Amino acid sequence: MKKKSSGFSGSLGFVLAAAGSAVGVGNIWRFPYLCAKDGGGLFLVVYLVLVLTFGFVLLTTDVAIGRRTKLNALNAYAALGKKWRFLGFLTFLVPALIMTYYSVIGGWILKYLTAYLTTDGSAPAQDGYFTGFITAPVAPIVFTLIFLAFTAFVVYCGVEKGIERYSRILMPGLLLLIVGIAIFSLTLSYQGEDGITRTGLQGLGVYLLPNLEGLTVQRFLQVLLDAMSQLFFSLSVSMGIMITYGSYVKDDVDLGKATNQIEIFDTAAAFLSGMMIIPAVYVFLGTEGMTFGPSLTFVSLPKVFQSMGLVGRLVGAAFFLMLGFAALTSCVSVMETLVANCMELFHKSRKQMCAVIGLYSLVTAVLICLGYNALYFELPLPNGSVGQLLDVMDYISNSFLMPFISLLTSILIGWIVGPKWICDEVQKNGEAFPRAGLYSVLVRYVVPVVMLVLFLVSTGLWKL
Ligand code: PFF
Repeated sequence: MKKKSSGFSGSLGFVLAAAGSAVGVGNIWRFPYLCAKDGGGLFLVVYLVLVLTFGFVLLTTDVAIGRRTKLNALNAYAALGKKWRFLGFLTFLVPALIMTYYSVIGGWILKYLTAYLTTDGSAPAQDGYFTGFITAPVAPIVFTLIFLAFTAFVVYCGVEKGIERYSRILMPGLLLLIVGIAIFSLTLSYQGEDGITRTGLQGLGVYLLPNLEGLTVQRFLQVLLDAMSQLFFSLSVSMGIMITYGSYVKDDVDLGKATNQIEIFDTAAAFLSGMMIIPAVYVFLGTEGMTFGPSLTFVSLPKVFQSMGLVGRLVGAAFFLMLGFAALTSCVSVMETLVANCMELFHKSRKQMCAVIGLYSLVTAVLICLGYNALYFELPLPNGSVGQLLDVMDYISNSFLMPFISLLTSILIGWIVGPKWICDEVQKNGEAFPRAGLYSVLVRYVVPVVMLVLFLVSTGLWKL
C-alpha cells in the first residue's frame, strides 16, 4: 500500500492541528452545559479522571495506529488484520455522518457572528430568534454553504499549507479570546429582577464546587456516562480523525509528549469555556440559567450579552468569532479525514477528492438544513430523546458507532495485536512512556467493559 509523503512539519504543527480538531463546539458549547446540568465540580472531577485514563488510552491508540501504519483508518485496520477491515469502514462512517451536520452548526455560528457585527445584537436575544432562523427555508442553507466553502478551501490547501498553517494562527487566537472573555466573566456583577446582586466570583463557585445535593448511584452513573460521551466527542477519538492526523506525524516526534499536550490543550479549552460561560449565565440568569441544556449557547448567551449593555455586543461578536474558529478547525479535520481516506482508496488527487467530498458535504448539509423545514420529522430515539434529522445523525455517530468502535478497537489492540505494538511505537526513539503499564491494563480490561456498558446504555438496550 502506498505510504504518505506529505505531513506536518513537526511536533508543534501536529499538536496544534490535532488540538484544532479536538477543540470545537464540544468544548465551548457542550462541556459547559453538561457541567451546569451535572453538578458543576462533580462533573469536572469525573471528567478529569476520565481524560487521564480513557482519554489518554483512546488518543494514544489512534495516533499510534496512524503513525505506525502511515495509513488512514480504512486501510490501517486492514493492515492490522484482514478480518478487521470492516472496523475501518465503520470508523470511516463516523466522519461521513458528522460531516452532514457539523457545517450546519458552523452556519448557525456564522449567522450569529454576522448579527453581532452588523446590528446592535438585540435581535439574537429575542425569544424565538434561534428557532425562527433554523426553520427558515433559505438563510441557514446560505450560511452553511459559506462555512463549508471556508472548510473546503483549507482542506484543499493541503496538510502543511492548509491545516497546519491555519491551525497555527487560529488556535493561539482562540485560546487568547477564551482567556480574555473568562477573565471578563469573573468581573461581572448584576442586580436581577429579584433584587439580588450576583457576582462572577459567586458564579465561579457554582462552577467549581461539587453539587452533591440529591446524588444517588443512578445519577452518578448518568454523570459518568455524560462525561464519557463528552470525552469521545471532545477529543475526536474513535472516528478515524486522529488516525489520519497520526499518519502525517514524522517518526522523530515524541508521541507520548504530543498526546499529553493535545489532552491538556483540549481540557484547558473546555475548562476555560466553562469559566467564561457559567459565571456569566449565573450572574444574569441565576441558578435557573444552569438548567438550559443545549440551548445555552444560541438562546441563553445572547440574553446574557444583551444584559451587559453596549459592551455585550462586542463580547458577543468575540464569542461567536471564537466559536467559529473552533468549529472551522474541527470541521476541517472531519473533511480532511474523508478526503484522505478516499485519496488512498481510489488513488485520486487531493483536488479531485475535495470536489467529490465537497459535493457530498454540500448535498447532505442542505438536507440537514431542510430537516428543520420541508423535511421536518420527529423520531423517537432509542436513548429516550426525540430528534430531527440532525439529532439522528448525531445519535448514530456519537451514541452508537463511537462506543462500538472503541470497544472493538480495544479488543483488537488489547487482545489480538497486543498493547506492546502501541507502546513500541510511542517509545520508537527511546522516548519515555511512563504510563505504558497503565495503558496496557486499561486497554485490555477496563476500556472494553466500560465501552460495552456505554454502548448498551446509549442504545437503550440497558436502562439505568
Ligand atoms: N472534537 C470536536 C469538538 O469538541 O467540538 C468535535 C468534533 C470534531 C467531533 C471532529 C467530531 C469530529 F469528527
